[in-house]
Amino acid sequence: MEKEKITLSVIKADVGSYTGHSKVHPELLDIARASLQEACEQGILIDYHVVAVGDDLELIMTHQKGTDNSEIHKLAWDTFSRCADKAKELKLYGAGQDLLADAFSGNVRGMGPGVAELEFVERGSEPVVVFMADKTEPGAWNYPLFKMFADPFNTAGLIIDPKMHKGFVFEVHNLKEKKKILFSLPEDMYTMLTFIGAPSEYCIKAVYRKDGDGERVAVSSTEKLAFVAGRYVGKDDPVCIVRCQSGLPAVGEVLEPFATPHLVAGWMRGSHCGPLMPVGLADAMPTRFDGPPRVVALGFQLNHGKLVGPVDFFADRAFDRARELANRLADYLRRLGPFEPHRLPSEQMEYTTLPVLLKELDAKFTDI
Ligand code: F6R
Ligand code: MG
Ligand code: MG
Repeated sequence: MEKEKITLSVIKADVGSYTGHSKVHPELLDIARASLQEACEQGILIDYHVVAVGDDLELIMTHQKGTDNSEIHKLAWDTFSRCADKAKELKLYGAGQDLLADAFSGNVRGMGPGVAELEFVERGSEPVVVFMADKTEPGAWNYPLFKMFADPFNTAGLIIDPKMHKGFVFEVHNLKEKKKILFSLPEDMYTMLTFIGAPSEYCIKAVYRKDGDGERVAVSSTEKLAFVAGRYVGKDDPVCIVRCQSGLPAVGEVLEPFATPHLVAGWMRGSHCGPLMPVGLADAMPTRFDGPPRVVALGFQLNHGKLVGPVDFFADRAFDRARELANRLADYLRRLGPFEPHRLPSEQMEYTTLPVLLKELDAKFTDI
């Protein structure tokens, strides 16, 4: 008999926030929870968990309908739409911001929300970590995913655990060109780093086991709003799911990369480079210069699809020093003001107001 598969779907959107782009209003969270609760009672979902990370509403859902399922995506879309209606009623900021289409068309991909989904046979014990970031973009996961699954200085298991010794396969996407490529690590490490070191162009979409059936063990959301809308409508605050333990990186190895607050693109107006600060849910709220960018890590144990948890990992004091370093980096970078590398290079600002300005001034530029 085929073993039962569980799907973990994390679908998120910014459908309006207060004050400005800071927080999701509690009434929106209530609406989202009621909507997913109803779906549980109707047997569509097994379980759910709704949280806010900054101005992003995050729907964490389990079911048995597989990835890219239209019923699940419609549930997410309808839930976001209801929340957006409430956001409009409350005159929240950016109400309905990430819902770029007028009506649902079968799959939320390409319609604004960010999506990360994993389908797998639940192991004897199934620990997963869901990462959710605000004020940054999908490429922000490149550095931590590389560290977790490929760097022996981060993940001792790559050396010590015979089940991890062969390494992992990485699926890398070029989002603009809509192309993908597989790299087998450690053999292809140097080649892959050439690409993923440019996270605005290349993103790690997924990681696969080499042994067994080569299943996906990590997946990220790679939706780019600007590519959908053709203009800047907000950063693509991404999510990422990572399965852990027993031949996969341990939970502590999965969290370890965030002890170094690496620099990511996003922050104020989606146009600045800044440190990704790991925080607990209570601190998942951008303030200074609309940031600095934040990341939350929620741990769950799956029990026949039920979400046992969460554990709010970055609330732990072990990440205090990472936060302190992030604040120090923020102090330094802020002093640079409108100068690169604090402000992103021009080519990464092509979907902001810069092209408009360049067009306006075009006639004033004369030959040297
Ligand atoms: C970044 C972000 C904010 C806004 C900024 C300006 O992802 O959401 O930093 O870009 O607050 O917002 P508007 O243009 O809406 O006034
Ligand atoms: Mg917003
Ligand atoms: Mg956001």
